[in-house]
Amino acid sequence: MDRLAYDIVVVGGGAAGLRAAIAAAESDPKLTIGLVSKVYPMRSHTVSAEGGTAAVMRDYDNLELHALDTIKGSDYLADQDAVEFFVAHCPQEIVQLDHWGLPWSRDGDGKIEQRAFGGMSVKRTCFAADKIGFHILHTLFQTSMKYPQIVRHDEWFVTDLIVENGAAAGVVALDIRRGELSYINAKAVVLATGGAGRVYEFTTNGFIKTGDGMALAYRAGVPLKDMEMVQFHPTCLPGTGILITEAARGEGGTLINKNGERFMKTYLPGKMELGPRDILSRSEIQEIREGRGFEGPHGAYLGLDLRHLGEKAIDERLPMVRELAEKYLGLDPIHEPIPVRPGQHYIMGGVSTNLHGETNVPGLYAVGEAACVTINGANRLGSNSLSECLVFGTATGLSAAAYAKKRGWPRGTAAKEALAKEEGRIFGGLMKHEVGKESVAAIRKEMQQIMDRDVGIFRDEKGLTDACAKLATLRQRFVDVGVADKDRVFNTELTQALELDFMLDVAQAIAWSALNRRESRGAHSRTDHTTRDDANYLKHSLAYRGDGAPRIDYLPVTITKWQPQARKY
Ligand code: FUM
Repeated sequence: MDRLAYDIVVVGGGAAGLRAAIAAAESDPKLTIGLVSKVYPMRSHTVSAEGGTAAVMRDYDNLELHALDTIKGSDYLADQDAVEFFVAHCPQEIVQLDHWGLPWSRDGDGKIEQRAFGGMSVKRTCFAADKIGFHILHTLFQTSMKYPQIVRHDEWFVTDLIVENGAAAGVVALDIRRGELSYINAKAVVLATGGAGRVYEFTTNGFIKTGDGMALAYRAGVPLKDMEMVQFHPTCLPGTGILITEAARGEGGTLINKNGERFMKTYLPGKMELGPRDILSRSEIQEIREGRGFEGPHGAYLGLDLRHLGEKAIDERLPMVRELAEKYLGLDPIHEPIPVRPGQHYIMGGVSTNLHGETNVPGLYAVGEAACVTINGANRLGSNSLSECLVFGTATGLSAAAYAKKRGWPRGTAAKEALAKEEGRIFGGLMKHEVGKESVAAIRKEMQQIMDRDVGIFRDEKGLTDACAKLATLRQRFVDVGVADKDRVFNTELTQALELDFMLDVAQAIAWSALNRRESRGAHSRTDHTTRDDANYLKHSLAYRGDGAPRIDYLPVTITKWQPQARKY
């Protein structure tokens, strides 16, 4: 067992975690920072981001407009002070990445180019063809290597938080390669583990997005905020869920039904394919329900038509879209529309934080998709997410650094106790359970099917009540999960069991928050409560972990200057 200690431990090596680590390192070279990631950082899910990152960079745009688009997109559930902070800090992050070497796509004058994205009033999304995630991650990763005080623990899986005298004091982590647990003491802990899309079956999210940081904070007494707000992206490949970027529509791609009609003219004539994702996803389901979808081996779908853009534009601006369609469907979008349908993409909710990433546990921070600041409210606008990782990554890294500098080392026995507890839970319990009674794969599949069926794009009381009951049963059944692979080295069956344990907590928080919000707002669409109800629900949901069901409480939304209005496009 290793005994390790850093001033700050950052959990997660994607855009938010790397940006936080760099900001902390830059703020004081004497600070030591441990970067703990369950995958090698370049395999973090940021790498799969495609379309771009939003910021006000041109004279035709302004911060007020970016803020208003974001707030209206959120269906007025965003905290407006957080949104104002966010939009004001986006441009400097774009310039910073430029200085660190990110190869932005540029216009004829050499300026960083910007493209249209859904729900944004003007072209505001900076991009690097359709591979922005790869380039952001690479740029941040190579920049992090300039700082010797950032020490990486790649392929270490954090299983528990250490809390001493009510404050965060480090983490317990499993070194996946060696199969050994260690504790890492820290004065501050930053959770940057991304979202939890894998609680659903049909998702754009990689296998690693299992809500680890959300569940870790939840177990430490931090509420999960607005968990019912789950985003479904309108253009995913049937069968795999692979994302076809919104940039395809930003560049002029259209959505068609089996009659060849641009069906968005029925639902959102003012914005058509560049409406926000919640509205587009619902419209697609409606088209399919009314029999105007194409039929395929994976069910009904719609067409994303890029043919009119031409080969040159597709190869220059959307090369990965062409490659994905060719590789995964065997079709060339120059000649044929791409089959698409809505799939889970993002969780607007997350660990409840303020705009400095602080939680209600001193020394514990969260950032990126794992967190809910909140700027996204009930529906996030495409391309605000990477900017969120950058802006709040910086803010959180700086506040964790300032806190760590004021705090002494934890001196008690909490780390040893947490390690002993995890040794008992994982190697004394989970690994010793009878094999064959309950399996990770079976419980995970049932959870994902419940979430897809009853906690998806459209929801109602009956389905949500049923989902909550069935998830509670799965939670009980999980205690009998056995792990057949008894080897300690790179035991992915074990890590998947630990991930499922986290996902069950997150799924319960989502379902219970959704059951208790009896209105329709943004991505939360209730067929039994079809309108937005500001009188009763202009408030954030807070899910606290209970002994059985989560306990749901509420928090007011911060309104600065944009009074809630009907959301019309
Ligand atoms: O479609 C996309 O490129 C996704 C972008 C986002 O979720 O921000």
